Amino acid sequence: MMFLLILFTSASLFSSSSNALDFCVGDLSAPQGPAGYSCKEGEAVTVKDFVFSGFRVAGNTSNVMKAAVTPAFSTQFPGVNGLDVSLARLDLAVGGRTAMHTHPEATEVLIIIQGTLCAGFISSTNKVYLTSLHEGDVMAFPQGLTHFQINVGKTPALAFASFSSTSPGIYFMDYAWFANDLPTQILQETTFLDSDQIKKLKELLGGIN
Ligand SMILES: *[C@@H]1O[C@H](CO)[C@@H](O)[C@H](O)[C@H]1NC(C)=O
Repeated sequence: MMFLLILFTSASLFSSSSNALDFCVGDLSAPQGPAGYSCKEGEAVTVKDFVFSGFRVAGNTSNVMKAAVTPAFSTQFPGVNGLDVSLARLDLAVGGRTAMHTHPEATEVLIIIQGTLCAGFISSTNKVYLTSLHEGDVMAFPQGLTHFQINVGKTPALAFASFSSTSPGIYFMDYAWFANDLPTQILQETTFLDSDQIKKLKELLGGIN
């Protein structure tokens, strides 16, 4: 009798586990909150939600940075919503770079598929961690720290990043400072840069002088 009871209890445990929340594919029709997207209805979820094909083609590097970041965050890849992971493809033309930036919400690991990069990050005690990276190398960039990559090789570079969040955020310092209407005088006073240099950077990055 006891044995049957245990058998019955464990059987019902197993069957109830089929209702567990295995995943939460993002419902892109509703707004994203701090915890991500709400879940798409179970019956509407298909394997396609768990596949992202946007990395098949190189990003367009015809821009001032000579760089392209193709994100596969929850907005582009709803299957990873709620799974604390996401990715990005990084293409750098010869001489291209990712300008100084942070991912406020995630640690990054970057694997170099092709090319030679100079890469580094700066710790919260202002110590610099600088190196060169070659094909097959992986580098970790701790959450929130300012970092960059430069293609110092003679060929285009390709790398893939993985992040510890579905919404890592990308916060480029140069764009935050110079690609908007933040008054030149405030930039002068807060950075010690001279106004000619600030004007030049605003012109380069699309800010308003
Ligand atoms: C790449 O971007 C540049 C600048 O925006 C544009 O002129 C060009 O047509 C784009 N190339 C492709 C292949 O989309």
